[in-house]
Amino acid sequence: MSSSPVTLRSEGAIGVLHIDNPPVNALSPATVQGLIDGLAAFEAKPELQALVLHCEGRTFVAGGDIAAFEDPAFSAAPFNSFLGRLEACGRPVIAAIHGTALGGGLELAMACHWRVATPTARVGLPEVKLGLIPGSLGTQRLPRLAGAELALDLMLSGRMLDAARARAAGIVDEISDLPPLQAALARAQALVNEKWAPRRTSALTVPPASLPDGLLDKALAQAKAKPQYPAHEAIVECVRAAATLPFAQGEQVEAQWFARVLRSGTSKAMRHLFFAERAAEKIPGLPKGLALRPVQKVGVLGAGTMGGGIAMCFINAGFETVLVEASAEALERGMATIRKNYDSTVSKGKLSAEERDRRLARLTPSLHDTDLGSCDIVIEAVFENMALKQQIAARLGQVCKPGAIIATNTSTLDVDAIAQASGRPADVLGTHFFSPANVMRLLEVVRGAQTAPDVLATVMGLAKRIGKVAAVSGVCYGFIGNRMAEVYMREAEFLLLEGATPGQIDKAIESLGLAMGPCRMLDMAGIDVGAKTVIEYEKAGGLPPDATYRVVVRKLFELGQFGQKTGAGYYRYEGRTPVANPETQATCAALAQQHGIARRGDITDAEIIERLIYSMVNEGARILEEGIAYRGSDIDVVWTAGYGFPDFQGGPMFLADERGLAHVVQRLDHYAATRGNPYGYWTVSPLLRRLASEGGRLSQYAG
Ligand code: COA
Repeated sequence: MSSSPVTLRSEGAIGVLHIDNPPVNALSPATVQGLIDGLAAFEAKPELQALVLHCEGRTFVAGGDIAAFEDPAFSAAPFNSFLGRLEACGRPVIAAIHGTALGGGLELAMACHWRVATPTARVGLPEVKLGLIPGSLGTQRLPRLAGAELALDLMLSGRMLDAARARAAGIVDEISDLPPLQAALARAQALVNEKWAPRRTSALTVPPASLPDGLLDKALAQAKAKPQYPAHEAIVECVRAAATLPFAQGEQVEAQWFARVLRSGTSKAMRHLFFAERAAEKIPGLPKGLALRPVQKVGVLGAGTMGGGIAMCFINAGFETVLVEASAEALERGMATIRKNYDSTVSKGKLSAEERDRRLARLTPSLHDTDLGSCDIVIEAVFENMALKQQIAARLGQVCKPGAIIATNTSTLDVDAIAQASGRPADVLGTHFFSPANVMRLLEVVRGAQTAPDVLATVMGLAKRIGKVAAVSGVCYGFIGNRMAEVYMREAEFLLLEGATPGQIDKAIESLGLAMGPCRMLDMAGIDVGAKTVIEYEKAGGLPPDATYRVVVRKLFELGQFGQKTGAGYYRYEGRTPVANPETQATCAALAQQHGIARRGDITDAEIIERLIYSMVNEGARILEEGIAYRGSDIDVVWTAGYGFPDFQGGPMFLADERGLAHVVQRLDHYAATRGNPYGYWTVSPLLRRLASEGGRLSQYAG
């Protein structure tokens, strides 16, 4: 017999509606039904004088059940009418808030008559982060409680308020140090004793002073500038309805917008990423109850841009960190950069000077690698060169204490070869931080052939503690992200040889929502950096015997055209503005002639997108076949968190699924037929072909 996640019990003359739906008390259909039944039971017990809503476990209801939104039959109506009945109740209803009252959780609390919160509680309406809007009257009740301006800000940003701020804003009525249930029961009794008349949020009006002239119009204009995120416009219109229409009409406006955004591709993609990011944390096949290695003290070797950024990640998260460099000048330079970064954050008002000082106090600069001996993990972030990395690994193998984890920060190199050099490969793995390491969300964690399971699990946990979104990659050239990026760049360059311009390629790719197309991106990262990667890749035997392979970037490198930093690359730069560079176009034409490549005038945006993105998707499928990535969704996480792939597209695997894998395969076959396939560029991955024929999805694939 299945028991309901919601029970009604009595504490003296007070009813307690108790929700227990781990892990976060999300409003699953069963929970909603339990609430409906629980309220009916309370209504049938007139001897109970008030009702308290209380949640078991770590948090008050943290939202609607995001998984339930995938059900085409999903409807918010049952919960919404429950909220109406709850609010209409003649006896006081008190929400006991602890943890995070988010989304449907805050909507539930706002339909109660009184909200008591623990000092550490937080509240918010983060639906926008899922491409949604609050669909259970949050857009109507929050402006009534907190005013239009703050409500708009909270719903458009999705940010949370802590209990003190929520109290100041009128969202919670009381903060109590008592355990939440006890606090709510005490308040319920007090309200009963004073014969308090329930105060209903829906009966309030939005304070006119909270709606400065032009606020909504300005917000609407900003929202319309981002049509890929329809939830923004929806939120503005719902707040307008809250401010101008009776509650019942506002409810209808919200319902219409909610239905629209729920069905949008944007929300579907963002919901996919919500679960993808959480799935990526999990390592399949780990022994049950595996103990993690304790990490308190962190060492970073190398105080360059990467090392400094990595050290900042750890001190920001409260770790004692040692930063080691070989020379005093390099160490001082690294420390100065770190200080400058913090000072700039302080001057923008985003960090207090005291907090900056606390963070810097956790950082110990050192010129002696023996100081790394007391660290629980050491991350080596020296120059990307195999011989150097192996030499350092050998040294760390000796210096680091037994059981310490040794991480090599690399974007391409063979982690197994580095691990071997350490003499203790089970303790070694790769970390691929993205630059600037203290800002970028992604961390690719590279599992070596001999990496111990507890080392991998510890580093995944650590990634979460420093606020990174992490995905595991096996060892291969470029790991998940750069290996796929290589294919994308390859096609961009072939198109340049065939006659497309950098502007045309970038425009087509940017139409998908990527902030920058491949040419602008490489100009910014540096043509020299890009070319050296290709040269290294060649040395490592990774390139096909194709004399035309990425000849453009190599030629520009030879010509000293390194991109933005030299004023010319794929583009010419006027200040920071890229303009067409006729010289590069002449270079491409000359290279094409040299290699016997016909120039065409009929390259369309569709071809550009298909050749760059579908070939990358095909490479992603190979990565899955080889077991380099555990899941298709991990690849989407890598691309959205680390490579600027738009979240509203859900990542390359999700995009391919949405366009249809059969269509993707058909286009790859088309290019094989029309362009020839001597180097296997267009050979469709067997996994992709199989999924296409079975109606499967790459983004749902787990090997
Ligand atoms: N619906 C369904 N599942 C949810 C959920 C929701 N609203 N919120 C969290 N979960 C699940 C996660 O998928 C995860 O499941 P898993 O352990 O199987 O991977 C688990 O709850 C824990 O979530 P996680 O994010 O890993 O924990 P956390 O402690 O870091 O953060 C929250 C907790 C509640 C702050 C965070 O999960 C969150 O922001 N959730 C979304 C809240 C939201 O958007 N609500 C509005 C929905 S309309």
